[in-house]
Amino acid sequence: MKTRITELFGIEHPIIQGGMHYVGFAEMAAAVSNAGGLGIITGLTQKTAADLANEIARCKDMTDKPFGVNLTFLPTVNSPDYPGYIRAIIEGGVKVVETAGNNPAPFLPYFKDAGIKVIHKCTSVRHSVKAQNVGCDAISVDGFECGGHPGEDDIPNFILLPRAAEELTIPFVASGGMADGRSLVAALALGAEGINMGTRFIATKEAPVHEKVKQALVAASELDTRLVMRPLRNTERVLTNAAVERLLEKERRLGPDIKFEDIIEEVAGVYPRIMMEGDMEAGAWSCGMVAGLIHDIPTCKELVDRIMAQADAIIRERLAGMA
Ligand SMILES: Cc1cc2nc3c(=O)[nH]c(=O)nc-3n(C[C@H](O)[C@H](O)[C@H](O)COP(=O)(O)O)c2cc1C
Repeated sequence: MKTRITELFGIEHPIIQGGMHYVGFAEMAAAVSNAGGLGIITGLTQKTAADLANEIARCKDMTDKPFGVNLTFLPTVNSPDYPGYIRAIIEGGVKVVETAGNNPAPFLPYFKDAGIKVIHKCTSVRHSVKAQNVGCDAISVDGFECGGHPGEDDIPNFILLPRAAEELTIPFVASGGMADGRSLVAALALGAEGINMGTRFIATKEAPVHEKVKQALVAASELDTRLVMRPLRNTERVLTNAAVERLLEKERRLGPDIKFEDIIEEVAGVYPRIMMEGDMEAGAWSCGMVAGLIHDIPTCKELVDRIMAQADAIIRERLAGMA
């Protein structure tokens, strides 16, 4: 399948694995890229710029296909070493960067000069248009269904994607709720040029996370996610567990007075405990509603091949037969 996204990134299939904290290690990115998609290393999971340089080198040892690095711009007081991370990306010869969280404009000239393509992840049409205007090459349009941070507008992809198509001239992929060939064909019909998946890629053989995390996704239904931190305007969609229910109870009790310090136990530093140690009650971790569509733990290649075969069958048999 040839789309503007496969052309832009030099990949075989229009399927991207979005950056994921404590999931997007070299093993994950390489497995997706080797399967013909675009794997992405999560920059900020690496503690220092030197660690990121090392992770990029490890990924290159595992694949000769294109892969990317996610740089999430966080609203924190103590800013991570972004210049150092950017240097590691450029010197590592990475050709694609996925930015998220804030306007990437201050960093774009460095990427442009190095010939790096930038795909910016947005949860609204107005941010997508802004990213297009500042010079991003593509957009990942992230609907309300998504795992992670869906923003504060709550617009699901059935509305968000065609609205993005009305406003954008650069290519975009559909992100949030994407799981299979049906998702891909629907995304293409709504104007996207491919899909970005987070949650679905965690439940794969190569995902470098604890087996209990993968089993939790297979066991979960579409009813099992919750939105946390809305009162802090930092909404995150997570899989429910005892820590999440405790956090929500604090939100109800403290109302608009709630502060980050009140929920620190449930959200700060919990990713390594969940993803690496499999301590599933340690705190809140991002998960999309798409968990309801995850029923197995294939290899990345099996997953990507299945998506492409299913999409092909839907287009050639089901849809062509209707037209
Ligand atoms: C466990 C997890 C961690 C994530 N961490 C990040 C992150 O650090 N930076 C980022 O830009 N997006 C992050 N995301 C969002 C994904 O890149 C992707 O946009 C999202 O998962 C798409 O929705 P889906 O889960 O329905 O496929 C994360 C998602 C998950 C599930």
